[in-house]
Amino acid sequence: MTGGGGGGGGGTRQVCASCGSEHPETDPHARCPACRGLLEIRHDPPPQGGNALRALFDARAGVRRGPLASGVWRFTEAVLPTAGQHVLSYPEGNTPLLTSAPVAAWTGTPGLLLKHEGHNPTGSFKDRGMTVGVTQARRIGARAVACASTGNTAAALAAYAALAGLRALVIVPRGKVAFGKLAQALAYGARTLLVRGNFDDCLELADQAGERLGVYLLNSVNPFRLEGQKTIMLELLQQLGWEPPEWIVLPAGNLGNTAAFGKALREACEWGLIDRLPRLAAVQAEGAAPFALSFREGFAQRHRVEPHTIATAINIGNPVSYDRAARAIRDTNGVVTTVTDDDILEAKAVVDAAGIGCEPASAAAVAGARRLVREGLIGRDARSVAILTGHVLKDPEIVSHYHRDREPPPARANRPIEIDARLEEVERVMNA
Ligand code: F0G
Repeated sequence: MTGGGGGGGGGTRQVCASCGSEHPETDPHARCPACRGLLEIRHDPPPQGGNALRALFDARAGVRRGPLASGVWRFTEAVLPTAGQHVLSYPEGNTPLLTSAPVAAWTGTPGLLLKHEGHNPTGSFKDRGMTVGVTQARRIGARAVACASTGNTAAALAAYAALAGLRALVIVPRGKVAFGKLAQALAYGARTLLVRGNFDDCLELADQAGERLGVYLLNSVNPFRLEGQKTIMLELLQQLGWEPPEWIVLPAGNLGNTAAFGKALREACEWGLIDRLPRLAAVQAEGAAPFALSFREGFAQRHRVEPHTIATAINIGNPVSYDRAARAIRDTNGVVTTVTDDDILEAKAVVDAAGIGCEPASAAAVAGARRLVREGLIGRDARSVAILTGHVLKDPEIVSHYHRDREPPPARANRPIEIDARLEEVERVMNA
């Protein structure tokens, strides 16, 4: 890395959240080698705090080439200060922060903004974690990388492994991955295993493969992934002139993003980038809501459910980052809520018809924002941001089903009309 990589200090290590043991940042285990607990990356605070750090990040915002042009590596001091020449970047990030009157009106809060992570190179926020994960894989000399996935992580892993020239193995639940995502994994050349089981089964298998077969595991178990995903928050805060919104609403499945957002916001406060914490609202599909169940009980216990939702990205019953995410919700005075599959489909139809478009899991954030406005938690004039995590083209089948096939047609269905090749037919349709 060039251009103000920080130099001095370089104090980054991995700390086990369960037993507290410390490990060097180049330790290749995806979990704690002592107790198999989840590892967390700890950075020494950057030498420049507050204003100076903001100014450093802002000065890089216009960089056009090299790693600092990435919306992840622009924040290298907060991500992986010692990555040096190992950085593997597409580049990624730099996603737009959008206003949409129809979407905001539908949720009941005119100040709602949309951060569209579907504008990443493979169409989801996973690229932000994967650029860091694959960079770390190269640093430790991994020969192969692997993940379990509901689809987007697989697409991102496949692409970044191809860029890096590493072998990639992706483990996905057969028949439960949206078409665009599976197509990407195949196209980018990952060895793709279709497991007869659900995502939670795939993750257990990937964990074992990481342990016994010597592949480097790049699920969000891996703490370097979360360091990359933190930059969704950093970039958002930067886009808002470091003025935090009141609420940040995001879809929640395996809980990696919820955990990463919590860590990013905590550090941003500690390092003087912002002076107060926004509140996080994690949204689950009603049929796959173990985290919401725990939240309602004050996080007294962890739950595992048999998941069923049309939003396949978040069809997860035993989220791995449960503890980290619970901390994120507690620390930010946040909430966890649920939405039905019908809510998700309606929200998606609204976002899509606004010309923005997103995949079903992303629409859960928008449906969740509406629920929280109706319940009076998000004020009507609050400044809030919903995170759109994936691109509309990820899941073309659900779009086609909603608009073409569903009986009776949903209120927002846009049925295509078949005609003979005659102008009168076009005219008839236009005047109808
Ligand atoms: N939105 C999309 C589009 C996703 O792909 C995912 C997770 C989430 C939201 C939930 O994020 O797991 O950090 O709580 N997809 C993972 C995958 C599980 O394998 O692609 P989370």
